[in-house]
Amino acid sequence: MFEYTNGEMCAEDVALSVIAAEVGTPAYVYSCGAFESRFHEFETALAGSNYLICYAMKANSNQAVLQLLAGLGAGFDAVSGGEVARAVAAGVQGKRIVFSGVGKSRDELSRALDAGVCQFNVESEAELAILNEIACSKGRVAPIAIRVNPNIDAGTHSKISTGKADNKFGIPISRVREVYQNAACLDGVRIEGLDMHIGSQLTDLAPYRQAFNTAGDLVRMLRGDGHAIDRLDLGGGLGIDYQGDADATPTAAEYCALVRQCTAELGCEIVIEPGRYISGHSGILLTEVIIVKEGESRTFVVVDAAMNDLLRPAMYGAFHRIEPVIAPQDGATLMPCDIVGPVCESSDTFAMQRQMPQVDVGQLLVIQGAGAYGAVMASEYNTRPLVPEVLVRGSRFAVIRHRPSIDDIIARDRIPSWL
Ligand code: LLP
Repeated sequence: MFEYTNGEMCAEDVALSVIAAEVGTPAYVYSCGAFESRFHEFETALAGSNYLICYAMKANSNQAVLQLLAGLGAGFDAVSGGEVARAVAAGVQGKRIVFSGVGKSRDELSRALDAGVCQFNVESEAELAILNEIACSKGRVAPIAIRVNPNIDAGTHSKISTGKADNKFGIPISRVREVYQNAACLDGVRIEGLDMHIGSQLTDLAPYRQAFNTAGDLVRMLRGDGHAIDRLDLGGGLGIDYQGDADATPTAAEYCALVRQCTAELGCEIVIEPGRYISGHSGILLTEVIIVKEGESRTFVVVDAAMNDLLRPAMYGAFHRIEPVIAPQDGATLMPCDIVGPVCESSDTFAMQRQMPQVDVGQLLVIQGAGAYGAVMASEYNTRPLVPEVLVRGSRFAVIRHRPSIDDIIARDRIPSWL
């Protein structure tokens, strides 16, 4: 969806230089068609089974993106009161929202109950007690699944691994049986399912096989104890190929085949929570080169995007392909350079010693694979305005989050009268 046409990188049918001229840089640019086709990969692969694809909205929760996916029949995985509110604002019914998160506040639980979410993924015994108390006080019954921590190594970056015993997530597998027994005695909650999520950016299906089989065993055991486990939420985490080698990562079809294989006998409604797989390659970060600087030992290409706009490289050492908007000549000489942002931290580096064709001031570059965990993790560090977001469909495009002015940012601060 972000490819060269007549020598220039386009988002669907729109040249990125046109967007840069109208919206300025840096800017996130998303493709409707990319979101749709990635979502359909899951849909096609699960067709004929009882499933709900709950897009993990933390990956990209712009209202336009949510509406687009809701229109395709997506459900949503929310992890805060804010995300539940965003889904509701996009017209999503509560029965298509699952509410996850290790630290839901009383207020968030209460509001999610009012919104009628279809499942609370309960992550601790303390949360269970509070949810029960709130539901009872409202004369309501909260539908729950217990999130199990299966102590499985997802084999991914330690900062986004969630299924090991030393991660803060879920209820230890050794305690699960007892917690379900306790939950069954509470008037304010109704057990409906089981939940598991072992990590993000998994590029190997083996840990999934282990997790899904464990989940299956638990469902059978809990049913044996008399609990109604009708829904099995397997979380998200399917990785994408950031390097440009699509064969290196499993497809949604392969992942879903495994889901079906491991869960077929159970007769549960299956929930999956993919975020990155749907949005990662549906967006890019468009940026302009502001300075090219020869250091003592290397060339620094300073672009106008920075770590506050796309945090992944600074936070996880993440790799993103970076390409010029104007296609280089065939056989163009490549030179190694460090592509960095203007923020006053050395970690504000998008790529080190990356082989690039000749890069000049004023040139536009594309940072690929930025549709997930890009705009949502942006900040205004260094008083850099939040980067705008643009959505493209065919030859049309629209700004779906505008760039605030510096005055807007300053005006949010308040000076106390006593100062
Ligand atoms: N479900 C739960 C309960 C999660 O915690 C997550 C991600 C997902 C689903 C979706 O995972 P996905 O399919 O997108 O991998 N900021 C990091 C990723 C953090 C993921 C947190 N949880 C990054 O930029 O790589």
